[in-house]
Amino acid sequence: MIEGLLGLLVFILPAYVANSAPVLFGGGTPMDFGGNAWDGRRALGDGKTWRGFVSGIAFGILAGAAVAYAASEPAYMRLGVLLAFGAMVGDLAGSFAKRRIGMGRGQSAFLLDQLPFLAFALIFASPIYLPPPLDLALLALLTYVLHVCSNFAANRLGLKSVPW
Ligand code: CTP
Ligand code: MG
Repeated sequence: MIEGLLGLLVFILPAYVANSAPVLFGGGTPMDFGGNAWDGRRALGDGKTWRGFVSGIAFGILAGAAVAYAASEPAYMRLGVLLAFGAMVGDLAGSFAKRRIGMGRGQSAFLLDQLPFLAFALIFASPIYLPPPLDLALLALLTYVLHVCSNFAANRLGLKSVPW
């Protein structure tokens, strides 16, 4: 596949697309159906909906298919599925953790907002491929910066009520 920084971004694209799609396509029934966890706080909160979860996985897989096709690497298709699925599970894990430490839906949480989706995407994909350590560090840094910038843009475009 493609080398260098661009290659790294193309590799992780299904996770990014999966994580972004719910902002546009999410809404409706929350995944925790409004229910609370043992601590009396929402299990996941209203920001995690079934429509967001399913659309994230679907568009992530589509992005993976596009990359597999463009790079003539049909094997990448499987990686895309794992990255998309992992990203959405990681996004839930991040919200679950935020609720457990008492943070409300949409409240800004340093690192917990930006990195669980990436970590889970990489863990899910790791049986097939795990980037070398330096690339992992670069991905974490890039993801953090891109996440902050894109949420700022989404807020300015009126897609998100808060800029994080
Ligand atoms: N979203 C969704 N379903 C998901 C994930 C996200 O519908 N599984 C939508 C919601 O509208 C959410 C928006 O995408 O508000 C942005 O996602 P995110 O920043 O992850 O959610 P927050 O609202 O910030 O909630 P949390 O505090 O739980 O992160
Ligand atoms: Mg958020």
